[in-house]
Amino acid sequence: MEVTARAPGKIILAGEHAVVHGCTAVASSIDLYTSVSLRLRSEGEGTIKLLNDTGLDFSWSIARIKEVLSHLGSPFSSTPTSCSLETVKSLAALVDEKSFPESKIGLASGVYAFLWLYTSILGFKPATVIVSSELPVGAGLGSSAAYCVALSAALLALSDSVKMDVSQKGWFTFKAKAELVNKWAFEGEKIIHGRPSGVDNSVSTFGNVIKFKTGVMTRIDSNMPLRMLITNTKVGRDTKALVANVSARKLRHPGAMSSVLNAIEAISDEWSTIIQSHAVDDLCLSANEEKLAELMEMNQGLLFSIGVSHASIETILQTAMEYKLASKLTGAGGGGCVLTLLPSHVSGAVVDKLVEELESFGFQCFTAGIGGNG
Ligand code: MEV
Repeated sequence: MEVTARAPGKIILAGEHAVVHGCTAVASSIDLYTSVSLRLRSEGEGTIKLLNDTGLDFSWSIARIKEVLSHLGSPFSSTPTSCSLETVKSLAALVDEKSFPESKIGLASGVYAFLWLYTSILGFKPATVIVSSELPVGAGLGSSAAYCVALSAALLALSDSVKMDVSQKGWFTFKAKAELVNKWAFEGEKIIHGRPSGVDNSVSTFGNVIKFKTGVMTRIDSNMPLRMLITNTKVGRDTKALVANVSARKLRHPGAMSSVLNAIEAISDEWSTIIQSHAVDDLCLSANEEKLAELMEMNQGLLFSIGVSHASIETILQTAMEYKLASKLTGAGGGGCVLTLLPSHVSGAVVDKLVEELESFGFQCFTAGIGGNG
């Protein structure tokens, strides 16, 4: 029996970081996916292959998983906690030292999350697992959430079919279990990111444009056509560290930080109102686009003030500003990706020129479909 599940990446339109502190964020799925194929085997060893731009492509056995677990003690018996760098390092060494040079050590937390989800849901059944992704890793587009969602979905679908011996209506059964998928994916995200808000796994599981606050997700029904240019700075960064730095700043400046976070929340709320409003004509659409552009500028300014921007992000902002276009970082910041709003009046020729200029700095630009299914 083989199951393949895929889950989309995401962009955060407003409210990243503030959402970790209980404020509202607005996020959307994008049509770039991570897929996980899982085939249970009746006997023999299980293997895992990660095929994506991580450069990791390795296989190892269920026997190795058991060995790793015995070395790590039993972190798998209860709710997982974020894995420390030390755990990650010992795990990487146990799995395959060659696959995890120092520069890729952070990726081992994804393997740790895999182990936790796999053994919690399927136990030690041998399986062949193949992960492939269209999403750049660690760039703010929700690659880890898409990975955790697709993995949880495949594992749960397979555990269902094993338990209930259902060969028909498998997809239907799985759809009804989206909540469960989301719950498991959140556990995986906690291992990778420490203290995530849950917005990334929720938007990846359920798709569309959503509003998210303190673990509660509301779907936003929007007919507003949103065009965004996504620019990847190619500067790698660590979500866990960025989130921790913001929390530390909040401890040092509670009053100032709470004002900033409240201001970000107001921006998210306004975003959600605007994209739900019905634009009766082109004039009305332009006015809404102008408001969104201003909100993006304000949101970016506030993100700068909490310390999550980066020189590469600022270069993109300045470049787009020369074209009178507004941008903001998306996700954790510190590098990663930047969104530039492309209002409906902006021609393809202008966008091409901007892309050419941004790419001359070594950045990578692309557009993606916004708001598809999870
Ligand atoms: C990361 O995509 C978004 C952050 O707000 C972290 C989180 O919400 O878990 C920075």
